[in-house]
Amino acid sequence: MRIGLLTGGGDCPGLNAAIRAIVFKAEMGYGDEVVGFADGWRGVMEDAVRPLDVNSCRDILPLGGTILGTSRTNPYSTDGGVEKVLDTLRKEGVDVLIAIGGDDTLGVAHKLSAAQVAVVGVPKTIDNDLSATEVTFGFDTAVQIATDAIDRLRTTAESHHRVIVCEVMGRHAGWIATLAGLAGGAAEILVPEEPFDIEAVCKRLQRLHDKGQFSSIVVIAEGAKPAKPFRSLQGASDASGKPLDQFGHERLGGISNAVAEEIEARTGFESRVTILGHVQRGGTPTAYDRVLATRFGVAAVEACHDGAFDTMVALHAGEIIRVPLEEAVGVSKTVDLTLLHDVVGPFLG
Ligand code: F6P
Repeated sequence: MRIGLLTGGGDCPGLNAAIRAIVFKAEMGYGDEVVGFADGWRGVMEDAVRPLDVNSCRDILPLGGTILGTSRTNPYSTDGGVEKVLDTLRKEGVDVLIAIGGDDTLGVAHKLSAAQVAVVGVPKTIDNDLSATEVTFGFDTAVQIATDAIDRLRTTAESHHRVIVCEVMGRHAGWIATLAGLAGGAAEILVPEEPFDIEAVCKRLQRLHDKGQFSSIVVIAEGAKPAKPFRSLQGASDASGKPLDQFGHERLGGISNAVAEEIEARTGFESRVTILGHVQRGGTPTAYDRVLATRFGVAAVEACHDGAFDTMVALHAGEIIRVPLEEAVGVSKTVDLTLLHDVVGPFLG
């Protein structure tokens, strides 16, 4: 069997572990050939391909990023894109294409199935927002990086008696904010799933400070939105005026600036901002993410050999299962507000 492989969308720790597992299982387990496409769907459209073998993938397990490169290119938003994809797959003699990606990349894979392309999906994203799997690899590393950052912010916040607003990624899901905020003992966790009331946030911070806590960490997800607009919001977003990507996503980031400014204005507590940004996606994966990525990679090759096309491998109750790609894409998994209120709530101000 000749397997094509690509990584699409935002990179995340664990991609190389998955690539390695696929190549090892395919070559050593089944005697398959594997070819890798550069930069996601762009490489398939442009026939940018190279062979991948056990020797070239031996040392990549702990490496961050993706040795294949990635992009947010969408063949369905590119003139003649789908025809180019089909031509390349035919020309390269690819029997099955394994697409490692999030909602966008896997959405393209599912659409290509309708054009008789044999595809198997592997889920990845630091956002953890794919509904058909309990966890995606990349998420655990991002949460650990954010937690480490919060621990460091805490000591400087305490020394200066400040509020530090720490902005984390996650797009329209508050998973990183919730788990890192809980692990880091944040005073407030603001997520996209629940519009926040800045007045209430300030009152709770004031109450904590009145009780003798003279510094606080506020963790805010990049996609969090206020219930009502407030003064400092004007022009605060990094996204304003930026073009949408090929999947129609706006660029998020910057809400923390307005929140910190407003907290300082309303409470008088000196406030600072840290936007963690792409540091959350960089560097070596945690042990958990390496293992999950490896399990997904092995299971994806098995799915290819079982002819389980148009499916995605997923984690369910500790087991690796297969789910139809159709179920896996399009529905975002967002934070259950019960978790936020009942479990995290008692720890917050
Ligand atoms: O989807 C992963 C993610 O890291 C989001 O959390 C974030 O909004 C986005 O990608 C950033 O994308 P880019 O790398 O294009 O700036």
